[in-house]
Order: sequence, then C-alpha cells, then structure tokens
Amino acid sequence: MDLKVLRNLSYGVYLVTALDGMRPCGCVANSIMQISSRPATVAVSINKENYTHSLISRHGYFAVTLLAQDTDPGLIGTFGFQSARTANKFDGLDFTFEEGAPVPANVGCGWFSCQVTGSYDAGTHTVFFARVTDGAPRPGEPMTYSYYHKVIKGKSPKAAPTYQPEEEPAPAGKVWKCGICGYIYEGDTPFEQLPDSYTCPLCRQPKTVFKAE
Ligand SMILES: Cc1cc2nc3c(=O)[nH]c(=O)nc-3n(C[C@H](O)[C@H](O)[C@H](O)COP(=O)(O)O)c2cc1C
Repeated sequence: MDLKVLRNLSYGVYLVTALDGMRPCGCVANSIMQISSRPATVAVSINKENYTHSLISRHGYFAVTLLAQDTDPGLIGTFGFQSARTANKFDGLDFTFEEGAPVPANVGCGWFSCQVTGSYDAGTHTVFFARVTDGAPRPGEPMTYSYYHKVIKGKSPKAAPTYQPEEEPAPAGKVWKCGICGYIYEGDTPFEQLPDSYTCPLCRQPKTVFKAE
C-alpha cells in the first residue's frame, strides 16, 4: 500500500467554529464535504483531541467558513496551530451568531451553519454528519488545500486527518524553519538580518521560534 496516493485527493481549507458558552472558538479543517442534497448534509472530520471536538460533541452546533485565496494566512496560524484551551482565537475578529454558532464577519468566500445529526468514530477523529441550517456565499476564490501548501507554503499539523510526515528532500544549505507551524523562510534578506519584530507570516509567532536546520 502506498498512502502517497491519498495526497492526490482534493480539499478546501475551512474554519469550523463553535461556542464554548458565549465564547467563540474553532479550528481549521480541510476534511469537509457535502454528502447529500436534500436535506443539504455535510461530513466534517475532527480530531478527538481538538477543543473544538468537545464543543461540537457537547452542543451539536457548529459553523463552517470557507477560506479564500486572499484570506489572511495568519488566521490559519491562529485557528490551526493554537488551541482554544489556551488562546482566544476570536480576539480582534468581528463575528455574528448564526443558528447556535459563531461566524467570523467578512472572512473567506462564504459560511454555513450546521446541526449535528449523527457521527462515526474513525479512531483518531470523529466524523460528524450535520444538516446545513443556513448560509451565504461571499465574493472570493476558494482556497484549496493544494493552494495552501503550494502557494502559501503552509504545513498541516498532526491533528489534520490528512497529515503525512514530510518526505521532501531537505533544501541545500541552512534553512530557517518556524518551530511552531513548520513554515520555511524563503525571503531574499538573510534571516539573521531580519528585524527583531519579524513574525512568522503563517502563525504570527516571533522570530525567536525559528530554528536553523
Ligand atoms: C491546513 C490545516 C488543516 C487541518 N485540518 C484539520 C481537520 O480536517 N480536522 C481536524 O480535526 N483538525 C485539522 N487541523 C488541525 C486543527 O486546526 C488544530 O489541531 C487546532 O489547533 C485545533 O484547535 P482547538 O484545540 O482549539 O480545537 C488542520 C490544521 C491545518 C493548519
């Protein structure tokens, strides 16, 4: 079996958001698909260790925001590489309440709200089946998982169901890699000469978390 074949599956990049009491929370997910039309139903695969998993299991409501190519990648850093156990991911983000879930305002190319109708235990992840209760498109070009990897040069953490250890040959010479999200600095200015105020463009962590490899 060669699991590399699974890398040719196509996905989008989404925010899955849910409420912790009145506190808005959520995480990045790529494993979302529509599985029926009437009633409109989606399947969403969420890692059991994600805080978002406990919120969806407890309340049964969540929302999905479809990220666009021009979405600030820093949002993926915040929602995809930090946990709501320790971070308030909506700090500085406007949002509305839609059918029992928070939806970031003016982010991405659309959103929809969901009510869980069933689930499947898939080992590390639970697949939630959910009826779409409301939603609206916004202008923009959807961000695909491939675009996230190839253009934004983003990485996926182990919690993503599609995670596979990297097998690409290490680039020649010394590279500076973000110790939080794995982003590799490729700018023209030598890394050492960047100002101390430099932050990772993906996860917004300070220059000090970068390590030379
Ligand atoms: C590109 C990308 C795709 C991801 N896809 C998923 C996914 O489909 N399901 C999942 O459970 N986690 C996925 N993750 C990981 C979660 O977003 C991450 O573990 C997050 O920190 C969990 O936050 P929480 O503890 O606040 O829920 C993905 C992360 C990234 C960056």
